[in-house]
Amino acid sequence: MCFICLNSVSFTYEGKKTPAVDDVSISFDAGESVAIVGLNGSGKSTLARLMVGLLRPQEGKITLSGRPIEEYSLPEIGRKLGFVLQNPSHMLFNTSVYNEVAFGLKWKGEKRREAEHICCDYLHYFDIWDLRDELPFNLSQGQKQIVVLSAILALEPECLIMDEPTKNIDNYRKEKLKKLLLDIWARGTGLIIITHDYDFVDNLCARKIYMADGRIMADEH
Ligand SMILES: Nc1ncnc2c1ncn2[C@@H]1O[C@H](COP(=O)(O)OP(=O)(O)OP(=O)(O)O)[C@@H](O)[C@H]1O
Ligand SMILES: [Mg+2]
Repeated sequence: MCFICLNSVSFTYEGKKTPAVDDVSISFDAGESVAIVGLNGSGKSTLARLMVGLLRPQEGKITLSGRPIEEYSLPEIGRKLGFVLQNPSHMLFNTSVYNEVAFGLKWKGEKRREAEHICCDYLHYFDIWDLRDELPFNLSQGQKQIVVLSAILALEPECLIMDEPTKNIDNYRKEKLKKLLLDIWARGTGLIIITHDYDFVDNLCARKIYMADGRIMADEH
């Protein structure tokens, strides 16, 4: 059984004549590492938003672990999928970097001591411990990106869907991120990475999907 399965899925934004995602059928197994690439406007982010249930297809069906995605509550989806949006600013709403990373862990029901331990680990790993009391809103784009990635990685979802995770981040943190993703992938976490950064996904994702004009043009394993 496939983990995420899309069957003839189409989505057109209101007021648009052409679909952003056009009759896409594709499936992802549990624990797969997949890169989704394509030019600006080819429909990658729209596809990701459909896969995590933030958008509903006007045509076609999407299932997660065999069950229609619309039957899941958002917390249920959150336990299975971790989604990093293309714009990290849209995911930041806490009053400190520390609370930003801790928020999801508390929401997940993690015990306080354990949540503190996990937060510290991520802030130290990405070398942003000194930023722990900063207002996330005031951070640089790259720092925001690292905070959002830390917050989602800390939740240990079954599969991570990341929309341009390396955008704006420095090479030092990019290497750390890659090492961490290789590590969690080896332990069974699925990775779906939307990117323009071919070097980053080169030896990280065994499968590459090419999108153009809302369609899948190639799917290479
Ligand atoms: N909120 C929106 N409202 C209307 N049209 C949208 C919206 N978001 C995206 N689109 C349109 O849908 C199409 C696909 O956009 P999408 O953001 O999915 O592409 P993308 O492949 O992620 O591009 P990029 O590489 O620039 O991030 C584009 O034509 C875009 O203009
Ligand atoms: Mg995009």
